[in-house]
Amino acid sequence: MTILHIDSSISGDNSASRQLTTSLVERLKRAQPGDDVVYRDLAASPLPHLTLDQFADTSVLDEFLAADTIVVGAPMYNFTLSTQLKAWIDRLMVAGRTFRYTENGPEGLAGGRRVIFAIARGGIYSGGAPAAALEHLESYLRGVFNFMGIEPEFVIAEGLNLGAEQREQSISQALGETLRLAA
Ligand SMILES: Cc1cc2nc3c(=O)[nH]c(=O)nc-3n(C[C@H](O)[C@H](O)[C@H](O)COP(=O)(O)O)c2cc1C
Repeated sequence: MTILHIDSSISGDNSASRQLTTSLVERLKRAQPGDDVVYRDLAASPLPHLTLDQFADTSVLDEFLAADTIVVGAPMYNFTLSTQLKAWIDRLMVAGRTFRYTENGPEGLAGGRRVIFAIARGGIYSGGAPAAALEHLESYLRGVFNFMGIEPEFVIAEGLNLGAEQREQSISQALGETLRLAA
């Protein structure tokens, strides 16, 4: 079995989403020591913006489809996903490979694999928060992966820019959640 580990935060060692993906992958490895891990850092090695020519290179899509479990760090920037992560998703959304259009509408073709997102947000968007309508990260990722036939799972640390105490509490709660997800 193969675990694909994706990070996309630009914040290096200060990144909460990187802390969460590291924890998830470590725990998944502990549960299945024989699994291989493939790592891709989209901030250190960004994929170029999508062009028609880029469709000829299916290496990123092939890497995704070869994985059984995919763990993705997703920081919120400007209410949505990073451009680095968007460029990765642009390589995955390929008609005939991960979805197709049928007489009955679109059909996802990439089911049968587990996708876990570790989301980090500076503000608070859950639980009916006033900013909920500005949440275009979790909702986008759910929509796109549902479209490909996958029900993604989420570990979320939020309110990270609302003070040291809130940050520590939120990360520690999310780290606890990684334990449950990897069990
Ligand atoms: C360029 C930039 C834009 C950001 N935009 C938002 C935002 O729109 N909403 C929000 O809640 N937090 C925002 N933040 C805060 C990040 O979501 C927060 O720092 C989070 O921890 C980022 O994930 P990371 O720690 O893995 O880098 C932004 C941070 C940066 C660097």
